[in-house]
Parts: sequence; structure tokens; C-alpha cells
Amino acid sequence: MSLSPKWDNEAYVSVHLVQEMLIHAGIPKKLGSMSCWHPEFRIKMPKIDGSGFTEKKVDFLIEDHTRHVNFLIEIKSAKQRISDAARFQLVEKYLYRSNIKFGVLIDPFSIEIYEYGQIQPKATLKIEDPNHIEPIANFLKKFLETLKMRTIAIHTSKGGVGKTTLTINMAYELAKQGNRVLVVDLDDQANASLSLGVNKADEIDAASSLKKVEEILDSFEDRQELIEFLLECVLDDFDYRSYIYPSSFNSHLNRTNDGFIDVLPGSYKTQPHELERKPFADNRLNKGLQKLAGKYDYCLIDTPPTYNRITWNGIYAAQYIVIPSQMEYLSVYGIRNPIKQTREVREDTEDARAVILGIVPMMTDNTKINKTVLKLVKKTFDKIPILPELKRATDIREASHQRIPLSLLAENKPAAGSVAKQMANLTHNVVEKINSLETK
Ligand SMILES: Nc1ncnc2c1ncn2[C@@H]1O[C@H](COP(=O)(O)OP(=O)(O)O)[C@@H](O)[C@H]1O
Ligand SMILES: [Mg+2]
Repeated sequence: MSLSPKWDNEAYVSVHLVQEMLIHAGIPKKLGSMSCWHPEFRIKMPKIDGSGFTEKKVDFLIEDHTRHVNFLIEIKSAKQRISDAARFQLVEKYLYRSNIKFGVLIDPFSIEIYEYGQIQPKATLKIEDPNHIEPIANFLKKFLETLKMRTIAIHTSKGGVGKTTLTINMAYELAKQGNRVLVVDLDDQANASLSLGVNKADEIDAASSLKKVEEILDSFEDRQELIEFLLECVLDDFDYRSYIYPSSFNSHLNRTNDGFIDVLPGSYKTQPHELERKPFADNRLNKGLQKLAGKYDYCLIDTPPTYNRITWNGIYAAQYIVIPSQMEYLSVYGIRNPIKQTREVREDTEDARAVILGIVPMMTDNTKINKTVLKLVKKTFDKIPILPELKRATDIREASHQRIPLSLLAENKPAAGSVAKQMANLTHNVVEKINSLETK
């Protein structure tokens, strides 16, 4: 096909191919805080003679917060097409230096998508006609969907209802199925971090005196964890890897699958006042998670039972919300808070965040009051799905006491099988709900 000489001009390619493609792929220039194009994105590079640094400009850095994905774009023209030198520069220099995982090379004849550290392209498309944007945009869109991390906050404004129990067990169920899971612990009580084996729970248990416990807790002082992640994620040299730790649950997972759990842990250091007077105070987790693009399939966020800056960060980062609640009159009253608060975030983000997947009836038994309240919940919140329940079971307490996942307890204790099954079923249901929302 012969192309008009206009395509020899890189600026023309940028406007008529690249920018059109981004818009058609659903990544507008600026959608609230949900997507952003940074033209002429600067990357710091060491000078060849070792005398300090110089800055190189990449045509675009694209942030797609809806999918928690970001990537660089280098544009070429019909005259100066994609070359080996350009490929080398993108992978070995730009991606390496920017700490961004994906890069796109595009000219009027083809698109190549590269991943940091890999010489072979991750995906390529031969462009039949650069004037015909739709198939090109679809190719990009499809690729971004494969990278997408699903973020789910387990949230309600009440304590002791099983938020942490749900978070860690859902994480395990998802990892068992081969998913790469990140658990973010926003609660300063840090029960999720303790259970998932990243907060020295064994050492604390074995401590012989209060002084010893204090010493152990003091050792978190220098650790990079959630609060530092929130404070530092907007810095140029931010590297998410220094804030994340592998869970001890991983030792129970079958090594033949790819699934694992990582934790962004918290501790008593998680204090909302640290974020006061910082720019984007509610949006820091959202921004930070962006930098993990392509690394995880699911991110589960355990929240504190209050509304403070830290909690808002969880809601602004979560595409989906799961609300656990006991089936008692007062608890039903408590469901109204998350419903009201998440509505504000949905309005603010044009439904890109805080979509409620459903209410999980927690610690239910066969009492009459439970049944009555469940009916009341269905009637009061008739637009919100009721997810599969988790019955009251001492085995849940036992698993959390032993700091093992429920399904592992059930492997050695058949009596725990039924409640473990409920947990697996709930996780399955949550995934199905998301699948159906995303294919709508
Ligand atoms: N279905 C259940 N049956 C019995 N105990 C449960 C159940 N779910 C949670 N628990 C127990 O209730 C306590 C509070 O749960 P937790 O997950 O820490 O709540 P939250 O994070 O909302 O404060 C824990 O000791 C946990 O083991
Ligand atoms: Mg908790």
C-alpha cells in the first residue's frame, strides 16, 4: 500500500495515529484522575563518559489508572521506521531507566510492545492502513486487558466483622488458582500483615516480656512499608519492590502453579496525619499501584473500620468493593456508611472505582434473627447483590489462630471442610461477578 507523504512526518503520526489510537482504546488525555498522557516524558540517563546525567525524552508516558497500567510510547514515521537501534533504546535504556514495565514502538506500518528485560516483543501488529484506527486501537485495548490488575477492597465501617479473614483467605484461594496476588494492609492494627507472616508474629508470640515485644515492634521503624509507599510513590526514583514482602502462605502453595501472595504491610506507623497537607492525599495508593503494572493479577485491600485519609486511599484505589456484614440490626445500619461513601467515589471517578460487588453475610447461623435481618438487607439495599454467606464456625478462629489459610486447615481437619468450601465458593462468585461486569 502506498501511503501519503504526510506519514513521513513524526508529528503527523503522533496526532493521527497514536493519539487517535489512545482515545479509541479508552485512554483519554485526561479523565478525572483516571488517565493521563505525559508528552515528552523525561528520563534521566547516565552520560557515556560517566560525568553525571543527561535527560532523554520519550514521546509519551501513558497512565491508565482504570486498568492500573502504565507504559511508554516511542513514535516513528514512514520515513524513519522502527529499527533495531530504536528497539534497543526502548528496552535497554528507557524501560530500564524509567522503571516502567512496558514500552510501545509504533510507526505507520506496525506496533511492537516490549516488556522490560525482554528482547522479544510481547505483542506485535502489522498495520494494514494507518488511517483505519479501529483494529489498531482494539489491539492495544486487548493487550492492556491482559495486563490489568483487578483491585478489590474489603470494606465496611465496622470492626470485627471478618474483613481481614476475608482478605487473607480470598487471597489464598486466588493464589491457589494461579493468580499473582498483592495484599495491601491499610489497617494500623495490621492483622492481615501478621496473619500473612510478614510482621514477625511468631517472634511476638515467643517474646518473653513486654520489653521484648516492644523491641520487635521497634524494628518496624526502619522498614519500608505501607506508609512509606504512600509518601514516596510520587517520587522519581520510587521502586515499589522495596516495600513489598512475600507471604509465608506461599510455602503452602503448590509450586507447579504461578500463584503467590505478596504483601504491602502496615503497622502502628500507618497514621493518616502523615498524609495531611500532601498533594493527592487520597489518591496515593491509586498512583502507587500504577507502578506495579503487569506484576499482579489481583490486589486485595484490607481496610480499617474508620474513615480517614488512609481508608479513602483504599476506596480510591479499588475498582471493586466487597462489604462484609453480620446479620444483626445494628450491622445493617453499618452497611449504610460504605454505601454512601463509595457512591461519592464512583461519582468522582465516573464509575472507574468503588463499584460494589455485593454484601457478604458474615458469621451467620440459623437463628431467626439472622433470617429476618437478611430479608431486611435484601429489601433495604435491593440494588446490591448478596454474595454467598460465611457461616459462624470455630474453625475460622482456629485457622486465624494458627495463622494458616482456612482451606489448609480443612486439608487436615475434615470438619472444617464445609466452611472452607464456603470461602472458595465466595471467592469464585466474586471473580464471576467481576468477569460479568467486565464483559458487559
Ligand atoms: N465466620 C466466622 N466464624 C467465626 N469466627 C469468625 C468468622 N469470621 C471471622 N471470625 C473471627 O472474628 C474475629 C474478627 O475477624 P476479623 O477478620 O479480624 O475482622 P475485622 O478485620 O473486620 O476486624 C477473628 O478472630 C476471626 O477469626
Ligand atoms: Mg481487620
